[in-house]
Amino acid sequence: MSKNKKHVLFIGAGRMAQALIEGINKNEFVILVGNNGNEQRLNEVRVTYDVETTNHWKLEVSKMNIIILAMPPESHDTILAEIADRIDGQLVITVAAGIGPTYLESKLPKGTPVAWVMPNTAAKLGKSMTLYALGQNVSGEQQKWIEALICAIGEYEKVTEQQIHELTAVTGSAPAFIYRVAEALEKITLESGVSKEQARKLVANMIAGSAEMLKTNADPAELADEVATPGGSTAAGLEVLDTNDLNHLMIDAIEACRQKAMVQE
Ligand SMILES: NC(=O)c1ccc[n+]([C@@H]2O[C@H](COP(=O)([O-])OP(=O)(O)OC[C@H]3O[C@@H](n4cnc5c(N)ncnc54)[C@H](OP(=O)(O)O)[C@@H]3O)[C@@H](O)[C@H]2O)c1
Repeated sequence: MSKNKKHVLFIGAGRMAQALIEGINKNEFVILVGNNGNEQRLNEVRVTYDVETTNHWKLEVSKMNIIILAMPPESHDTILAEIADRIDGQLVITVAAGIGPTYLESKLPKGTPVAWVMPNTAAKLGKSMTLYALGQNVSGEQQKWIEALICAIGEYEKVTEQQIHELTAVTGSAPAFIYRVAEALEKITLESGVSKEQARKLVANMIAGSAEMLKTNADPAELADEVATPGGSTAAGLEVLDTNDLNHLMIDAIEACRQKAMVQE
């Protein structure tokens, strides 16, 4: 085993595990991957990402520095019970919706360092906006490991456990709201007789450019004003959105996500 590199065991080899595995710096981390028995998937992961895989991940837990739980939330109870007596100070990270540090700590030996990482689907392109929260026993060095791991899938921000519960609706669910807007605009664009490819190019780049403008930290209201000359055509469009209370619609949509997540958790 490499002494300087940190050893990471992924339990779960699906979409999220693969997004992380693809981007993780192999000079810093040695990756081992286990799953629920899907041999073909494990073979694909080994070949595609040039990492080690195992059919017996339980035997490996005690040799690891970091365990990443990359399986569905509903499998966590069983897996946490299985690893609890093999854990001795390893950092345990979950990427599962609804499984916060408080829950992990309640299921693992006292003093276990734990973290909750909440990416979004853009992780597969390395463009996730990921939230993470720490449990009570994570050292400064372990926090650096977490950030070195999750920078593999994009940008990240440390928040509290409660904030992840509240803000997953924004970073995790609201991309779907943006895709709905894109769908509507693409349909309208197609009506002008351009091809599907052209419509996608127009809309995707318009949204990407707007996101880049937001990333300059300019105020969204000022950016809208920059586009809209008073009394001009964009202002007429904005008035329709304001009259129909887009702001309120957004609040309702986010609230619906939060309410549903609370019921599921
Ligand atoms: N996909 C996303 O964009 C996204 C975003 C945010 C959070 N997440 C979270 O990431 C986690 C994984 O999601 P995913 O999209 O990667 O799912 P996925 O593609 O369906 O993969 C799930 C993986 O978990 C493994 N697994 C399931 N039950 C297991 C068990 N009892 N023991 C060991 N391994 C088990 C499966 O094993 P087999 O290979 O044997 O089937 C599979 O490799 C979920 O908790 C999800 O909430 C995903």
